[in-house]
Amino acid sequence: MQRKILVTSALPYANGSIHLGHLVEYIQTDIWVRFQKMRGHECHYVCADDAHGTPIMLRAQNQGITPEELIAGVKQEHEADFAEFNIAFDNFHSTHSPENEALASQVYLANREAGHITTRTISQAYDPEKEMFLPDRFIRGECPKCHAQDQYGDNCEACGATYDPTDLINPVSAVSGATPITKDSEHHFFKLGDFEESLKTWTRGGHLQSEVSHKLDEWFESGLRDWDISRDAPYFGFEIPDAPNKFFYVWLDAPIGYLASFKNYCDRTGVDFDEFMKPDSTAEMIHFIGKDIIYFHALFWPAMLQGAGFRLPNSIFAHGFLTVDGKKMSKSRGTFIKARTYLDHLNPEYLRYYYAAKLGSGIDDIDLNLEDFQSRINSDLVGKLVNIASRCAGYISKKCDGKLSATLADSALFEEFTSQADTIAEKMENREFGHAMRDIMALADKANQYIDDMKPWALAKEEGKQQEVNAIYSMGINLFRVLATYLKPVLPKTVEQAEAFLNIEPLTWADIATPLLGHEINKFKPLMTRIEADKIEAIQDASKETLKAEQAVAVKQEVTSDIEPIAPEISFDDFSKIDLRIAKIANAEHVEGAKKLLKLTLDIGNGKMQVFAGIKSAYNPEDLVGKLTVMVANLAPRKMKFGLSEGMVLAAGPGGKDLFILNPDDGAQPGMRVK
Ligand code: MSP
Ligand code: ZN
Repeated sequence: MQRKILVTSALPYANGSIHLGHLVEYIQTDIWVRFQKMRGHECHYVCADDAHGTPIMLRAQNQGITPEELIAGVKQEHEADFAEFNIAFDNFHSTHSPENEALASQVYLANREAGHITTRTISQAYDPEKEMFLPDRFIRGECPKCHAQDQYGDNCEACGATYDPTDLINPVSAVSGATPITKDSEHHFFKLGDFEESLKTWTRGGHLQSEVSHKLDEWFESGLRDWDISRDAPYFGFEIPDAPNKFFYVWLDAPIGYLASFKNYCDRTGVDFDEFMKPDSTAEMIHFIGKDIIYFHALFWPAMLQGAGFRLPNSIFAHGFLTVDGKKMSKSRGTFIKARTYLDHLNPEYLRYYYAAKLGSGIDDIDLNLEDFQSRINSDLVGKLVNIASRCAGYISKKCDGKLSATLADSALFEEFTSQADTIAEKMENREFGHAMRDIMALADKANQYIDDMKPWALAKEEGKQQEVNAIYSMGINLFRVLATYLKPVLPKTVEQAEAFLNIEPLTWADIATPLLGHEINKFKPLMTRIEADKIEAIQDASKETLKAEQAVAVKQEVTSDIEPIAPEISFDDFSKIDLRIAKIANAEHVEGAKKLLKLTLDIGNGKMQVFAGIKSAYNPEDLVGKLTVMVANLAPRKMKFGLSEGMVLAAGPGGKDLFILNPDDGAQPGMRVK
C-alpha cells in the first residue's frame, strides 16, 4: 500500500552556519526520505529557517542591517550548504513568512477560544538603556556560588551552578553594559497542564522511542507548568493578535513553521494540505529532531496541535549529538567544522556514508572519529564498493563492446544478494542504518570474494574463454548494481553516476531482482577517490582559521562594545556636500511630550534655524543657551511630530548622561564653516 508521509527536520536557526553536528540530523532524515521515495511512497520532506527571536534581532543590529536582510542572507547560505550535501528538501521555507504568520495566529486563536491561554504579570530583567527585556543569556555577572566573573544569567560555566539571573552578583546587560532593573510586564501563557491526560496517553502510545517516553514520565512527575509564549517589543517575530507590542516567543511559531513550509509547498504543487492535517488524516506526519529539543516536540507541540484541532504527529524520531574524536565539537581543536569548510575539501557522500554507518534508532551520541572516518571510507566505499565496478568494467568495455553477458554466471549468488532486500529495507525503515550498512558491506565483501575466486583475469589468458570471462565480470556488475540500489538513499550522487555508467533508468527497490542481461553499459569513470590524510588536516586547520577570524571580530566588538559599526564608505564628494557650521545656541527649551528631545534655536550668523536634538538626557536647556556648537546646516528639513527640524547638531558619546555636543574652541564665530 502506498503511504503518504510528511517528513520534517528541525528548523536550523537563521543566525549561524550549518555545521557537521546539524548534518547528523539532515543527512539522517534525507536518507530516510530518499528510501521512502525509492520504495514508491508519496513522501514530502519540508524544512525552513527558524528566523525569529532576540539573538537574530541583536545580530542584525550589530551588523547594521535589518533582521529581514540578515535572514535572507543566511537562508541562501543554508540552502547552498544543504544542496551540496545532497539534502533534497521538497521545500525549504522560513518561519518569517505569511503562511507562518497566518498559521501561528490560527493555532493561537483556536487555543485561546478553547480556554488554553491565560495572561499574568511577571517581573523580569530589563535593560533600561536599550529599553528591552533581557533573556537570561544576555545577562552576565559574577557567579553567586564560585564567584567566577562574566557568567551567563542562568548557569555558570566555571562551576556548573544553575540559578536565576537575579542571583548574579553585579549583573550587567550584555547588550548595553547597563545594570538591569526588574520590570513588570503582562505575559501570555499556554496552559500545558490542560493537556496532561491526553499527553500521557499520546506519549505512551508508540509515537516516541522508549528512552524518550521514559524521559517524559520524569517530566510528568515534576508537573506540567504553564508555558510563557509571549515576548515584549522590541522583538523580531509575529505580533500576537489583540495584544499590541506583544510577540509570539520564537518557539511558539517555530514548529508551526513545519506546517507553514508544507502549506507553501502545497500551494505551489497542488498537494492537499487539509488532507494531511485534518485530525483523522491517514497520512503520516513525522518529525526528526535532536534530543535537546524533545520537550518542545513531545509536549508543547502535540498539545498546541490538539488545542487547534489539527492531527498529531505519528512519530518523533530523536537522535543524539555529534562528538568529534570522542569530544564535544571544539573550535580550538579545529573540530567545530562548518558544512562549508568540509565541502571545500571533501566529497559530501563520504560524510553521508559515515553517518549512516554510525546511526541507529536510539538517542546515543554519535562520534565522528576522523581517523576512523578516513579508513572507513577508503576501505568500504573505495576499496570494496567502487572496486567491484572498476575491476569488472574494463574487460567488458574493451573486449565485449560494453555488452554484458546474456546469462547470469551464478544465479544463486545473485539471489543471495537480492533476497536481502526485505531485511535491509526493514532496517532502513527502522532507522537502523548502521546495521543496514554492515549487511551491505558484507555483501560487497562477497562480491569481491567471488571475483577473486573466479580469477577471470587468468581465464582471460586462455583461448576461447571470452564468453565465460564476460559472464564472470557481468556477474560482478550485476552484484554491484544490487549494492548500488541498496546504497542509493545514502549515496545519491555516486549512485546517479553509477546509473549513468550502467546506462539504466533510476534504480528502485522494486526492480532489484531484475538483473542486467545482454545490456550495454558505458565506459567506467572512477566514482570516488581515496581520502588522503592531508585533507582531514586541511579541514581542521581551516576550522581553526575561522575560529581566529571570529575571535578577531569578537575582540574588536568587545573593545568597542558600545560603538556602532562604521557605516558604508562614502566618497570625498559625498563628504564635501555636508555644510558644517558653527552655531550659537540662541535658545533651548523642553518639548511638551518628548522623552528625548530639546528644541534648539541656532544662530548661524545670517539667520536662525530650528533644530530638535535628542540630547535631553544629557543637558538642561538653560545650561545650553549661549554655547557654541557644530551643526549640519544643509540637511533637508524634516517634519517631526513636534515641528520642523532644519538641521542637526553634532554630538558624541555612549548616550544617556554622557552625550556631549561638540564645543568648538574659543574664537569661533557663528556661521563659520567647519572643515
Ligand atoms: N531552531 C531550533 C529548532 C526548531 S524546530 C521547530 C534549533 N535549531 S538548531 O539550529 O540549534 O538545531 C537544529 C537541529 O540540529 C536540532 O534538531 C538540533 O538538535 C540539531 N543539532 C544541532 N547541533 C547538533 C549536534 N552537535 N549534534 C547533533 N545534532 C545537533 O534547535
Ligand atoms: Zn560558578
